[in-house]
Amino acid sequence: MLIEELKREVEKRLPSIRAAHVFRVAETATALASLYSVDQEKVEIAALCHDIAKAMERDKLRSIIEDNGIDRRYLSYPHELWHAPAGTVIAKKEFGIADEDILNAIMYHTTGRRGMSDLEKLIYIADLIEPGRDFPGVEDLRLIAQLSLDDAMKASISHSLQYLIAQQATIYPDSLECYNEHVQKQE
Ligand SMILES: [Fe+2]
Ligand SMILES: [Fe+2]
Repeated sequence: MLIEELKREVEKRLPSIRAAHVFRVAETATALASLYSVDQEKVEIAALCHDIAKAMERDKLRSIIEDNGIDRRYLSYPHELWHAPAGTVIAKKEFGIADEDILNAIMYHTTGRRGMSDLEKLIYIADLIEPGRDFPGVEDLRLIAQLSLDDAMKASISHSLQYLIAQQATIYPDSLECYNEHVQKQE
């Protein structure tokens, strides 16, 4: 599916506020892609698809996860995580995207995981720092993202875990593994 067609799918499937976020993520991620020599087209496709399932009903997300061999552990964690694996299924089945790296970038954009590729990290970070985001520390994250992808990933996953802990929300194991990996890497 062409980029222009994907953009139309985003506008069709998401409320305008969410679609605008997706387009800002795509701009942010492609700008970072040139800095870190990651394939621009793959980055743009992954960014456009990352929240494609975000507006779906909870029951629909649940059945997509159940019917497509997705890790059932997601269903015991907050439903806010479900749109990521569901988005991967839509990208694959409805948009015909077969590139594993793109599919993984969609799959792990909410949780992170151990052993993320540069493309996966770019989408995770861009989702957090796109210009519409406003939270204490976002300027620091934007700055770090210009300097080092690993440092930015470490700062981003730390931010996300701190946020979840402050909410006393449960933390998906992949996020903890991602955090541990990045902290251990830089000891
Ligand atoms: Fe998302
Ligand atoms: Fe997003």
